[in-house]
Amino acid sequence: MDAKLLDNVQLLYEKDSKGMLKALAELPHQCYLACWELPGRLELADSAPISNIVVTGLGGSAIGGDLLRVYCLDRCSVPVLVNRDYTLPAFVGPDTLLFAVSYSGNTEETLSAYQQARQKGARIVALTTGGRLAELANQDGVPWIKIPAGLQPRAATGFLFIPTLVVLEKLGFISGVEKEVQELVEHLKTLQRNLAPEVPQESNSAKQLALKLHGRIPVVWGASGTSEVVAQRWKGQINENAKAPAYWNILPELNHNELVGFQVPPEILRQLHIVILRDPDDHPRVQKRVDITREIIASAVGGVTEVSASGGGRLARTFSLIYSGDYTSVYLAFLYGLDPGPVEVIDYLKRALASDGGR
Ligand code: PA5
Repeated sequence: MDAKLLDNVQLLYEKDSKGMLKALAELPHQCYLACWELPGRLELADSAPISNIVVTGLGGSAIGGDLLRVYCLDRCSVPVLVNRDYTLPAFVGPDTLLFAVSYSGNTEETLSAYQQARQKGARIVALTTGGRLAELANQDGVPWIKIPAGLQPRAATGFLFIPTLVVLEKLGFISGVEKEVQELVEHLKTLQRNLAPEVPQESNSAKQLALKLHGRIPVVWGASGTSEVVAQRWKGQINENAKAPAYWNILPELNHNELVGFQVPPEILRQLHIVILRDPDDHPRVQKRVDITREIIASAVGGVTEVSASGGGRLARTFSLIYSGDYTSVYLAFLYGLDPGPVEVIDYLKRALASDGGR
């Protein structure tokens, strides 16, 4: 492999058929539009009081729900649950605010959950580029937010997540969203100047980490309540962008099980590269746990890298880690000689499922 492959900027853009690099460069603007343009004309009728919030979606359309869940943990008076299934939990009813999220608008599990939510009388807001979900929402008089088309769902996280914050603010569940998104947008612009393909390897932390992960199995650890969703996001992005296996877990839970599994088989453990996500808001005892955990596993695995969140507010810090993982996974795809955009296996699976007409 050419040791300087990642600095061959023209080649990277040529190999990127779906514009993943462009989408990453545009993420700050995406977050801006997601806050100030997309939810603009949304009409939210009065309804019964809301006592729970559910986000239903899959894959790239569900991760925004997890971001919402963690964001709301210490700010919102009602629970937020993410549903990745055909069916909804029994508690969903007229006191539920349900976000039905599908980038394509055609994901069968999400359409099924949407129909159930209608039957249960839940208050629904849909987020989609169009497809069947938009048709149903129009037909049912359900408010929906039109997401710009042309991206891979996982490259539209700003579009799929930030409008849900705006809706919750409009309904009085949270406050201060605009200020936080403004800070997020500015911070992402700064980070972009350090992570973009034009920034050479010696000063680009995402390229450096991709080189460390190349040929290894990434295991990404986050912390409950701060970076837990980001760890999951890194795993998914490595799977979908680099087409490689990756695993994730969170502290403190992994201290009570996964940590024991670093003794055998030694030759496989040496293939692992552990990525530890750190956030200044991690519980002080979790910070201590990370230090001890690292000491315990360091000699067994191929390598350990810590990635620290930057930025002031919660959103900026969360997205600083997401941005770093997104760039790393795209660079990893190039190191494997692959195009980060297409996810042919998912497309194949959806076609195979649709062959019976959805019965
Ligand atoms: O990243 C992807 O392409 C997938 O994870 C999709 O998001 C997932 O299959 C659901 O599709 P959609 O986002 O169109 O509902």
